[in-house]
Amino acid sequence: MKYFLDSAIMEEIIYADKNWAIDGITTNPKHIQNSGKPFIKVINEIADYFKDRPDFTISVELNPHMDNAAEMVKKGLEYSKMSKNFVIKIPCTEAGLIAAKELELNGVRTNVTLVFSPSQALAAARIGAFIVSPFVGWKESSGEDCVPYISDIIEIYRNYDYKTQVIVAALRNGKQIVDAALAGADIVTCGLQVYKDSFYHPFTNHGLKIFQDAWDGTDTTGA
Ligand code: E4P
Repeated sequence: MKYFLDSAIMEEIIYADKNWAIDGITTNPKHIQNSGKPFIKVINEIADYFKDRPDFTISVELNPHMDNAAEMVKKGLEYSKMSKNFVIKIPCTEAGLIAAKELELNGVRTNVTLVFSPSQALAAARIGAFIVSPFVGWKESSGEDCVPYISDIIEIYRNYDYKTQVIVAALRNGKQIVDAALAGADIVTCGLQVYKDSFYHPFTNHGLKIFQDAWDGTDTTGA
């Protein structure tokens, strides 16, 4: 399963890339705002950093005020010309699905986002989206169990051999990463801290202390 970083902060992106060899980037308007930089500047900076890695995708979200498919297509085509790494992130609305279909027909890869149900994910696959982003954290915050939701999407895709890749998005902890892996997701996308937390276990530190004490109580000359 691939690990994407959900961020538009260059320092985080470089840290995660150098230390964990992340496989892709997802951005959204909130991440762009958090970067503190203008939209075009930040997406160009990210693109420039990965320009020699053709398989590395960077999802760039359209202006969320857009509700007209033709406008979305125009902007998507414009962004796609800026970097071969860009995948155009489009909301799973009727206009968004129409635009994503048109962009895919024009060779532009799309990431259908803000997906909250298997029926939306099915619609994204039918129009040939490159990626679909079912959100988990928001649903689980409101008390829903997302294991069947993600498993259903993956089962539906397998039933019909849809090629759309599933990025399980908006994850908040290691358990949700594991749930995505057990369901057979292609990719997860998380913030930096969620990954860091998922690598941590208190028993690892507890065990290290035990072994350090044993080491210190041993003749380790020449070790
Ligand atoms: C995914 O592609 C989104 O960018 C992201 O996960 C949105 O949710 P969050 O910012 O609440 O995690």
